[in-house]
Amino acid sequence: MQKKWWQEAVVYQIYCKSFKDTNGDGVGDLAGVMEKLPMLKELGVTCIWFNPIYKSPQVDNGYDISDYQDIDPAYGTIEQFKELLDKAHAMGIRVVMDLVLNHTSDEHPWFKESRKSKDNPYRNYYVWRAPKENGKEPNNWGNYFYEGRGSAWQFDEATGEYYLHNYSWKMPDVNWEYEPLRQDMYKMMRWWLDLGVDGFRLDAINRLKKPEGLPDSKMPPAPPVGIYGYVVDRAICTNVPGIHELLREINKNVWSKYDMMTVGETGNLSSDGALDYICQDHNEIDMVFHFEIGKNPKIITVNEYKETQQRWIDLMKHNAWISQFLTNHDSPRQVSRFGNDGEYRVPSAKMLATLVHTMPGTPFIYQGEEIGMTNVYFDTIDDYNERYTVGKYNTMIEAGEKPEVALGKLRAMSRDNARTPYQWDGTDNAGFTSGKPWIKVNPRYPEINYERDRASADSIFDYYKKLTGLRREHPAVIDGDFRFLLYDDPKIVMFLRKCARETLLVVTNFSDDPVKVAFPEELRANKWKRVLTNREDTAPSLEGREEWLPWEAEVYTLSC
Ligand code: GLC
Ligand code: CA
Repeated sequence: MQKKWWQEAVVYQIYCKSFKDTNGDGVGDLAGVMEKLPMLKELGVTCIWFNPIYKSPQVDNGYDISDYQDIDPAYGTIEQFKELLDKAHAMGIRVVMDLVLNHTSDEHPWFKESRKSKDNPYRNYYVWRAPKENGKEPNNWGNYFYEGRGSAWQFDEATGEYYLHNYSWKMPDVNWEYEPLRQDMYKMMRWWLDLGVDGFRLDAINRLKKPEGLPDSKMPPAPPVGIYGYVVDRAICTNVPGIHELLREINKNVWSKYDMMTVGETGNLSSDGALDYICQDHNEIDMVFHFEIGKNPKIITVNEYKETQQRWIDLMKHNAWISQFLTNHDSPRQVSRFGNDGEYRVPSAKMLATLVHTMPGTPFIYQGEEIGMTNVYFDTIDDYNERYTVGKYNTMIEAGEKPEVALGKLRAMSRDNARTPYQWDGTDNAGFTSGKPWIKVNPRYPEINYERDRASADSIFDYYKKLTGLRREHPAVIDGDFRFLLYDDPKIVMFLRKCARETLLVVTNFSDDPVKVAFPEELRANKWKRVLTNREDTAPSLEGREEWLPWEAEVYTLSC
């Protein structure tokens, strides 16, 4: 079947704020992205996803939008954006915007109107409720950023009512039940699409619909905000009945009219409920980011990794498509989270990339991954920026936790791990800015930076180039059937991708240890040709291979 462009794409996620600063104000900008387009082209990227670059007070680094139809002045202008779009398109690179439909900034004109009076025409653009008889919040929901004392409701003096904010109090949830809000959102989306953008990454998309009557969560209050009686229940506003009708309506009114891609961020979605969103016959969204691998705070085992992949890949048999990624701007760094960012940083970064780029689905690269950037461990909370880490830290302290303990618990999973500036070279501030960066640079930059990686015989960037080349040159990477081998092995991830013309075999060692395995009988007589390895020092032939080095990754082909 003819594939859609986004099924063949290699997507690169740009956190503009930390990518490349060109005017010395310490904040990355569109000019910086334009300067680096040739590098992305060389990497083999065919699509960019921009984290939000709209006008924003930057409470949540742009997820708090105050004007959907303008670029934040720190990043540039709308003219510059158009220039970037043209340049990217001319190079064969599409551009996808991050679209935040669940909430706006409290500085958005809609909200400024909405809070003025109960009969303001914009009142119903947001979710307002009267206090309970005792003056308390309408329900026990806690906000996801642990702000204030934890409630998801903020009291507003002007009208004596509370508004709902599942995230920051500076980010009120909008009300999708209200037709004029829906029409305004559609208009705004069409405006971007008419300008030429190629699609949207849809922020928190399965949270647009709220449960009827906004009932209390039944989850028991847990520390730290539990001490105030609130419950951070991330499930209660997700996948609520009615969400699919809503998405189909948006699709019918807007998305279906363009040659575009949509990828939805869907926390709290398991493979069970996923087809409802991504089955192409349903006309909702093209694919989702699920967090059954990436966001789960416990370290998953290799067997769990395989089991999860298998479940999602199985969905593809039902006219659905999936995404492949391990981390993003909301998580720790890929190599620190799943690999080994010490002794095996280089081979493990390559091995993880091999999985992302050869498993079925569209691969997403998060900026810096292609040079093996690692987590940062700041010594004090003052160096952290992101709302969740800071909010949770403050609440933990209030609940009686010691500062070192609180920081210790938060550092490994902090979203700031992914948000430190791109490490371009070994000069001051890693060559990201000539001024003072908005967030500290990772102190490992003299060792880990783009320039150094490119000069190395063992370059991670070069390996990524080979992976994106594989996608171009071997149709089985996109089209091939998928089958795990040695499924129960706790360290080896091995699979076949088979299409009419060829079969690919991918073998990886997902561990710090050398592993001995008996090679599957069915593969032995065949003449496999190695097309990629992250361990040039191993024999290129499968013949007699029994041992796999720590984090080894290899791809072989067999032509028919
Ligand atoms: C999504 C974004 C995250 C943001 C949140 C609120 O989860 O990826 O960065 O804080 O939505 O918009
Ligand atoms: Ca700048």
